[in-house]
Amino acid sequence: MTDVVDATVSDGNMTPKSDLYFPSPEVVANANVPDYLAVREKALTDPVGFWDARAKELVDWYTPYTQVLDASNAPFFKWYVGGKTNIIHNALDRHIKTATKDKLALIWEAEDGAQRRYTYHDLWLEVNRFANVLKSLNVKKGDTVTIYMGRVPELSIAMLAVAKLGAIHSVVYGGFSEQALADRINDARSKVLVTCDGAWLRGKTVNLKDIADEAVAKAPVVEKVVVYQRTNQAIQWVENRDLWWHELVANVESECETEQMDAEDPLFILYTSGTTGKPKGQLHTCGGYQVHIATTLKYVFDIKAEDVWWCAADPGWITGHSYIVYAPLILGATGLMYEGAPGYPNPDRWWELVEKYGVTILYTAPTAIRGFMRLGEAWPEKHPMSTLRLLGSVGEPINPEAWRWYYKYIGKERCQIMDTWWQTETGGFMITPTPAVPLKPGSGTLPFAGIIADVVRTNGDSTDANEDGFLVIKHPWPGMARTIWGENERYVQTYWTDFAEQGWYFSGDSARRDEDGYFWVIGRMDDVIKVSGYRLGTAEVESALVSHPKVAEAACVGIPDEVKGNVIHAFCILNAGVTGDDALVKELKDHVRHEVGPIAIPAAIEFVPTLPKTRSGKIMRRLLKAQLMGQPIGDTSTLEG
Ligand code: WTA
Repeated sequence: MTDVVDATVSDGNMTPKSDLYFPSPEVVANANVPDYLAVREKALTDPVGFWDARAKELVDWYTPYTQVLDASNAPFFKWYVGGKTNIIHNALDRHIKTATKDKLALIWEAEDGAQRRYTYHDLWLEVNRFANVLKSLNVKKGDTVTIYMGRVPELSIAMLAVAKLGAIHSVVYGGFSEQALADRINDARSKVLVTCDGAWLRGKTVNLKDIADEAVAKAPVVEKVVVYQRTNQAIQWVENRDLWWHELVANVESECETEQMDAEDPLFILYTSGTTGKPKGQLHTCGGYQVHIATTLKYVFDIKAEDVWWCAADPGWITGHSYIVYAPLILGATGLMYEGAPGYPNPDRWWELVEKYGVTILYTAPTAIRGFMRLGEAWPEKHPMSTLRLLGSVGEPINPEAWRWYYKYIGKERCQIMDTWWQTETGGFMITPTPAVPLKPGSGTLPFAGIIADVVRTNGDSTDANEDGFLVIKHPWPGMARTIWGENERYVQTYWTDFAEQGWYFSGDSARRDEDGYFWVIGRMDDVIKVSGYRLGTAEVESALVSHPKVAEAACVGIPDEVKGNVIHAFCILNAGVTGDDALVKELKDHVRHEVGPIAIPAAIEFVPTLPKTRSGKIMRRLLKAQLMGQPIGDTSTLEG
């Protein structure tokens, strides 16, 4: 801990050494954990003790655990060994026996303005019914169910119902296309797919069921497709395979027993793009994940009984899993979910929602903020948004300019911004302030209590202040992914080999720490590109391009973009005799849209005769990027002669 942070928090009135934003003494005093910095300091030397206390404070166990952390088979760590639990017990069942039963759990607004409100009891009933539906389709503990839906409450309900049965959900983001969906269904071996007829986006429908049909044609493992009717559009229907959600739920009991799970049993798989074409199924488990997400939401976003929490992510990404679907329910909070696109039909749709529902905490991504910045401050200026008290950011580094805009025009200079660094792999926040921590625009501030993070050189030495290095986690944490589904070796290889000797987790990110000990995440060091906060592997886009009959080879790099953070620039070598023209660029873009999804479409496609490669045949994307950006090309000693 640095002097400046200790000193400023003690009386809240110190002159900043650098660009620090202090929480007011009232904000600190009213925080759920006002003495957070002291708690954090203590946890630095006893992370296991910290996580033990949180598991007892925030989560109920059917059978108590006998050991907090088992590190005997590193890096396959186990948390809360021997404990029996189910996240649904903590998220729903236990609330039905208290006054929380009649509290709003979820408010949903459709793109067309329609609303639905679910109390905890309502949600509990829906989840019970859909769990019985899944049971009737023979879904059992340990089976996987793939979910491919738009942003409707039924997406959460489906996830919660799967978890209730002790089965494993694999949610595939509704923006992915047929091949991406098929790959994920096949890898998870799901016999049941839950989808929608369509989804609403900017007043138009996305044909989810058509895409699902194409995917299932490539994933014969699927036996049943449950279809939630959202748009009422015309769809193909396969008898004996396709089933309507509404017909199924009408015919089941409204109570279903919650399965008792071991703390280390799987809870869900969530695929991330990898450095090879095959996506990585990050596996999260039942015990530690709950503790990590409930703790971080309580400490960082300071959730209180009267809050209206809006995490504006998609439930199909880890942010949505952890902080839309599960953590708010564990804490008994009220959450808002909005179906549509930001800025539709008007640029101030989001700000209208904040006022209409009295949102107190808003958590979104830098790309959304930069998008709003471009539309001008007149839109948020129309809305005082006086209920807001805290803001959050996630998904990529937030540039200080966007931070200040968010602070000034959305938070009206009243609301602290929680810039949370974390990953699908980490399950929950890792580097983040809480309301008791002074902020610096663009910095995620300090590792969370019980998280031991560092920035190191290749040899493992900590870097000096302001020196770039590898962002590593030096001690296991409860929300960590336990493996890559079916690929233990790949898990070890990807995360635990760069610093194998020390036994540290390498995040794939580069970062630096400043003279106050604040962390500044710079970005990915591997072949992952963040486009509008969405995580894409270059390999996934490249294999989509190469699957086109006219393309021989492809390489993709991310280049900076003012709104999206990064966009994809693709280089393609064409097959002999093929001419690269504008028509082919369009054809290839359509092909990528069809194979992976609209988020993966390259902003530019360039036809080249060769690609720079190492002697071992690896494409040197770093070099392509440097050339594109007019930067020095650096070390090319491994370049093919
Ligand atoms: C990046 C999203 C800077 C980072 C929860 C990480 C961030 C990757 C931040 C994980 C942040 C996420 N500041 N960079 N606050 N949050 N990242 O798995 O590169 O979609 O490794 O998880 O996003 O992306 P993922």
